Amino acid sequence: MKQIKVAVLGATGMVGQRYVSMLSRHPWFKLSCLTGKESVGKKYGEAVRGNPIDIPSSVADMEVVPNEPKYVDADLVFSPLPTEAAHESEPLFAQEGFPVVSDASAHRMEKDVPLIVPEINPEHIELIDVQKKNRKWDGYIVTTPNCTTVGLVMPLKPLHDAYCLKKVVVTTMQAVSGAGFPGVPSLSILGNVIPYISGEEGKVEKETQKILGRFKDGSIESARIAIEASCTRVPTIDGHLESVYIETEKVVSVEDAKRVLAEFKGLPQRLALPTAPERPIIVMEEEDRPQPRLDIYAGSVPGMSAVVGRVRSAKDERALKFFVLSHNTIRGAAGIAILTAELLHASGRIE
Ligand SMILES: NC(=O)c1ccc[n+]([C@@H]2O[C@H](COP(=O)([O-])OP(=O)(O)OC[C@H]3O[C@@H](n4cnc5c(N)ncnc54)[C@H](OP(=O)(O)O)[C@@H]3O)[C@@H](O)[C@H]2O)c1
Repeated sequence: MKQIKVAVLGATGMVGQRYVSMLSRHPWFKLSCLTGKESVGKKYGEAVRGNPIDIPSSVADMEVVPNEPKYVDADLVFSPLPTEAAHESEPLFAQEGFPVVSDASAHRMEKDVPLIVPEINPEHIELIDVQKKNRKWDGYIVTTPNCTTVGLVMPLKPLHDAYCLKKVVVTTMQAVSGAGFPGVPSLSILGNVIPYISGEEGKVEKETQKILGRFKDGSIESARIAIEASCTRVPTIDGHLESVYIETEKVVSVEDAKRVLAEFKGLPQRLALPTAPERPIIVMEEEDRPQPRLDIYAGSVPGMSAVVGRVRSAKDERALKFFVLSHNTIRGAAGIAILTAELLHASGRIE
């Protein structure tokens, strides 16, 4: 199979490093270009921020180029750019014919931009045709959700299909790597919990409704589920843990809900895409799991499964409580974007 050349925009950050690590072992995609801002002209290995994960020597020697289409030679670009930079430059790449898969929030809620979790709403990629027509672009932008939304929608989808969700109340415990590098000052977060993350609660609520919505007549009709989110930052490094309470139309039992979650599979599993975990949702039985330190890499593709635990009944027979853990820079960012690009390739949308 011919390898597909891919670029990473804003490659030196927390998420960019995950891309470099995951793409270095990818069977279809070959990293051809890295862009940046402050690091332009430097070798990637020298410019990369923080304590980098594994950087192959071939990538360490690559020069970081300016973040403009004319410097980028690729069949597809991944964009873990900060919001403002994404707002400005992703449309320029799409205009120049690049498929853009973005982790940034800049374009997620635009009406003709798909917001994809490949197991949950793969049919929403058809919105690409609407976008290309509206904007007269040769390329397009596809977005992935906020890292907290991703972990939440994975169990919500099969539960919604089985019991029809009416209301969701979620409280998150989000790792510091979710804030990028250098992120939250150490003196603010060590030995502490911060019960506020700017803009996060609104994103979790609106994005979940869009992802669980229906693609109909060229647009997305958001799901009518009431969602209340409270987001906190905690001193873990990677992995967002979320405490979830749901109310349903139908009666829900703990054992049946566990079966529904554990048996769930989506299109990426049916297509056997390279980054698709065998089980997108892993259900744990232990009374004190999942824990970020122990369970964040559970499953056949490390960091790509949502790990659910403490599934328990609530006071009402039409309600349920559980915890879900997901890796914020893998399933919540680089991993989900790579899986989305695999889906785009499998559906003939990358030339
Ligand atoms: N961290 C997570 O868990 C997570 C999860 C999901 C989504 N996201 C989203 O992913 C994006 C990146 O997050 P992050 O955590 O990786 O942030 P980060 O660690 O702050 O890294 C961002 C990188 O972008 C580069 N950059 C800044 N302005 C640029 C510009 N104008 N052109 C090109 N490159 C530019 C910087 O590179 P230089 O060194 O070259 O200046 C920097 O290394 C954000 O939109 C974030 O919301 C993050």
